Amino acid sequence: MRTRDFLTLEDVRREELQEVLDLARAYGVGAHADRPLVGKTVCLAFFEASTRTAASFELAARRAGADVISISGKGSAIEKGESLVDTLVTLDSLGADAIVVRHPAAGAVRLATRHTGAATINAGDGCGQHPTQALLDLYALSDRLGGFDELAGRKVAIVGDIMHSRVARSVIPAFRAAGMELALVAPDTLLSRESGAWRLPILPSVDEAISWGSDILYTLRLQKERMSGARIPSVAEYARYYGVSERHLKSGMLVMHPGPVNRGVEISGGAVLSNSSLISAQVASGVAVRQAVLALATGVAERIAA
Ligand code: NCD
Repeated sequence: MRTRDFLTLEDVRREELQEVLDLARAYGVGAHADRPLVGKTVCLAFFEASTRTAASFELAARRAGADVISISGKGSAIEKGESLVDTLVTLDSLGADAIVVRHPAAGAVRLATRHTGAATINAGDGCGQHPTQALLDLYALSDRLGGFDELAGRKVAIVGDIMHSRVARSVIPAFRAAGMELALVAPDTLLSRESGAWRLPILPSVDEAISWGSDILYTLRLQKERMSGARIPSVAEYARYYGVSERHLKSGMLVMHPGPVNRGVEISGGAVLSNSSLISAQVASGVAVRQAVLALATGVAERIAA
């Protein structure tokens, strides 16, 4: 059986996105009833905090019939000094077909693939990549806009802490491959080294993003756990220029956020709960999309499409 790693979306093609989303759509309408992952073992190895990603991977794997093992840094032999690679090799020896890894170090998940036979899925590596987040974002957006083809030409402003965001590093190439037009909205101190290479307009405030003609505001959390030193003068001043509130959400405008949300910083509570918000839909899309990814990773996708 063919197996496949999901590590990055840096060079993703439109057809690959479409393949995952079509498969996820099949799951979304209940095709998981035939439990395509029966007999497969999925390991969830989360070495960094997670609510939605961990919960939806687990739900996705269990609903599709897989045996699921979960480990984290706390309570595993990592606490006794075992290395990441040795830990993952152990899971591999237990017969894992897919290992889903989240780790605070960028590149750690790719390193794991060199030492294990199981398909490896990146559930977020430091400031690196978070491919399944961008895939579920596209799923939620396609749903709201009436199909994948409706994404082409939409204008998306990515707002906030781009420097520390693995979500942005996956969303940017994936949204581009889907034909969307992007701009970055962040202070210089929160732009990443590769911002120049992306060749995207850089705008100084959410108001400017509205003037640019944004259809979608994709907001990001200030990721303090990954910051070294002060990057903004104060949270209140940051929120004044880079915080999205109801006043920005004219009719038809959509707002997204990968969660967890810091209300009143990057987005107001009212904007989170508004009709423009896709935040709950993003979370809900995670299960079907992660089932599709697990099915593709373990090589059983053909059974779903059939
Ligand atoms: C993000 C992450 O962990 O990268 N959250 C998520 O997976 N939904 C974004 C963040 O932590 O801000």
